[in-house]
Amino acid sequence: MDLKNVFIKVYGKTKEPIYHFFSPGRINLIGEHIDYNGGYVLPGAINLGIYGVMSLRDDEKIHLKSLDFPNEVEVDLGKDIKYKNEDGWGNYAKGVIKFLKEDGYSLKGCNILIQGNLPNGAGLSSSAALEVLIGYMLLFSIMQDEVDRKYLALLGQRVENKFIGVNSGIMDQFVVANAKKDHAILLNTQHLSYEYIPCFLNGYSLVIMNTNKRRELASSNYNQRRQECENALETIKKAKNENINNLCQCTLDDLQYIKNEVEYKRAKHVITENQRVIKAVNLLKNNDLKGFGELLVQSHNSLKYDYQVTGFELDTIVEEALKTYGCIGARMTGAGFGGCAIALVEKNKVGEFIEKVSKNYLNVTKIKPDFYETSIEDGVKLLS
Ligand code: GLA
Repeated sequence: MDLKNVFIKVYGKTKEPIYHFFSPGRINLIGEHIDYNGGYVLPGAINLGIYGVMSLRDDEKIHLKSLDFPNEVEVDLGKDIKYKNEDGWGNYAKGVIKFLKEDGYSLKGCNILIQGNLPNGAGLSSSAALEVLIGYMLLFSIMQDEVDRKYLALLGQRVENKFIGVNSGIMDQFVVANAKKDHAILLNTQHLSYEYIPCFLNGYSLVIMNTNKRRELASSNYNQRRQECENALETIKKAKNENINNLCQCTLDDLQYIKNEVEYKRAKHVITENQRVIKAVNLLKNNDLKGFGELLVQSHNSLKYDYQVTGFELDTIVEEALKTYGCIGARMTGAGFGGCAIALVEKNKVGEFIEKVSKNYLNVTKIKPDFYETSIEDGVKLLS
C-alpha cells in the first residue's frame, strides 16, 4: 500500500496537506576516512533510502512512527528534549528537533511516519538518511523548498556527534542532503566547497555488496583511527615546526618524521587516498572507467594494509568480486569493519556476477551476502 494511505490509517484523516519525502543512503566511490582529515571525498546517493510522510497537527506535538521499528516517539515542542535509550531510532529525530529549536526555528506540531528499504548498520548511512530526512521535513513545513542544504548536513552531523555520540565526519550527511542524480559529489571537507562530477558509467553498473557482517566495535575502532591521525599530524607539525591544519595538507615526504609504525601507516593511507580522489575525478572526466576501477582496488588495499579497517569478510567479498569476469574494480565503502563494498561490473554480466560472488563468498565465510544494483540518485527531496 502507498505510504500516504498507511499514514491515513495510522494517524486518521486530516484536512492538512500530506507530504511524501525520500532521503537516500549513500556510497562513497573513493576517499575513505578522509572527511575528518580535511581532504577530498567522492560520494554519491543511492536508490535505497528512507521514505517519510508528514502532515501538520494543530498542537505543539511531533508524533513519530516507523513501519520498521516498534518504538513510537512523541515530542512536546514546549519541553526539554533528552536522549533516551528506549526511544531507539526516535533519538535521531529528537536530536534534530532539539537542535532546530536551539537554532531558533519555530517548529510546528506534526505527525510523521517513516519506512525504509536501506539495510541498517550496513555502512550505507542509514542514520544520516534519517537525520537529514527528519531535518528536511521539519524545515520544509516552515519554509518549503528554501531549505539550506549545507545547514541541513551540518545539523545532521551535529545530531550524530552531540546527541547520539558518534564522532563521525561530514561526508554522509553532506551527500544525503546535496546529492544529484547521475553525479558524484567532489567534496572538499575542509571548506565544504563542492563540485558535481558526472558519473555516467557507460556500459557498467555499480553493485553494492553487503557482507552482512555486523560492524562490531565499529565506533570505538573509528574513534581510535581518528586519534591515530591526530597523533600523526601532531608529530609532523612538531618536526617541521609549522602550522598545518590537517593530514591531507601533508605530503609523502612528511612521512619521514613519523617513527611510530601504526601512525606512519595511517598517515600514508590518508595522504595517498586523498591523491587517489583527485586522480579518480580526472579519470571519470575522461571516461576512463578501467583506470577508475584500478584506483578502487588501490584504495581497498590501502584500507586493508595501511588503515586496517577492512577485515576478513570485506576482503573476501572484494577478492571474489575481482576474480569474477566483468568486474573492473571493487573496494569497501564507508567506515569498514564489516558492512558493504562496491564493485564496478559490466552491465550485461551483473546477474552472473552476483550469482558467482554470492556462492564463493558464502563458501568461504559461511555468511549469505546481499547485492543491490544501484544508480546514483538525488539527495533528500519532496516526492509529492
Ligand atoms: C563513516 C563516517 C563518515 C566517514 C566514513 C569513512 O561513514 O560517518 O564521516 O568518516 O565513515 O570514510
